[in-house]
Amino acid sequence: MAASTIEITIKRQDGPDAPSRWEEFSIPYRPNMNVISALMEVRRQPVMKNGTRTTPPVWEANCLEEVCGACSMIINGKVRQACSALVDQLAQPIRLEPMTKFPLIRDLMVDRHRMFDALKRVRAWVPIDGTYNLGPGPRVDPNVQGVAYSLARCMTCGCCLEACPQVSDHSEFIGPAAIGQAVLKNLHPSGPLTKEERTAELMGVGGIVDCGNAQNCVIVCPKEVPLTRAIGDMGRQATKKFFRDLFRR
Ligand code: SF4
Ligand code: SF4
Ligand code: FES
Repeated sequence: MAASTIEITIKRQDGPDAPSRWEEFSIPYRPNMNVISALMEVRRQPVMKNGTRTTPPVWEANCLEEVCGACSMIINGKVRQACSALVDQLAQPIRLEPMTKFPLIRDLMVDRHRMFDALKRVRAWVPIDGTYNLGPGPRVDPNVQGVAYSLARCMTCGCCLEACPQVSDHSEFIGPAAIGQAVLKNLHPSGPLTKEERTAELMGVGGIVDCGNAQNCVIVCPKEVPLTRAIGDMGRQATKKFFRDLFRR
């Protein structure tokens, strides 16, 4: 007989310094639910399996189609997006935990600020002057476009940092996502304008040499961003810059 309920266990924490606890819920089964719709059901009726009323759980979500990266969490031990995690494909009880490599805000919601700071560090933008019409952009080789597109799929979701053994509270490692975006921006026709600063940033503390090449990042990336290829590519760009700087002295 088909199950009539969905069993969910959620790691709860009221704030960054509050103690954590596990809460169990049993919600009515509906076909084709994802973890976000299951969480919404819990929020609608926040009563635990033992009958005790609790506070509605907190999480972050936005696009609901695996594009924004906001709903990343650990689902049954694997970091992924809650909006694309289909209940019918998950073992129960479904165990939900927040990512651990980011400061916790509340329950399943974390602060991914360090990723956006990392993008600022590597100047992950295209410098353009918006004060006048620049005309059509330069032509880009379709092969370069292909590589650029694979890198541009990154949605800053944090899965790769969560999986990376080199990322922790104690390490300054910038993480694989920002390295991929630095490679992407270096590939852009305007890349050479800021390539030196971008590459220099990744040659310093917390940069490319902190990658231990464990390759966990590329395995968990939901967008199949070629992270290890990007890290290797940036390593070569950094080596070239090192020798250029050496001979310029
Ligand atoms: S590289 Fe992949 S795993 Fe890392 S933040 Fe971007 S989309 Fe997420
Ligand atoms: S290759 Fe390994 S150490 Fe390097 S960024 Fe990826 S997970 Fe981290
Ligand atoms: S809500 Fe945007 S990726 Fe899940």
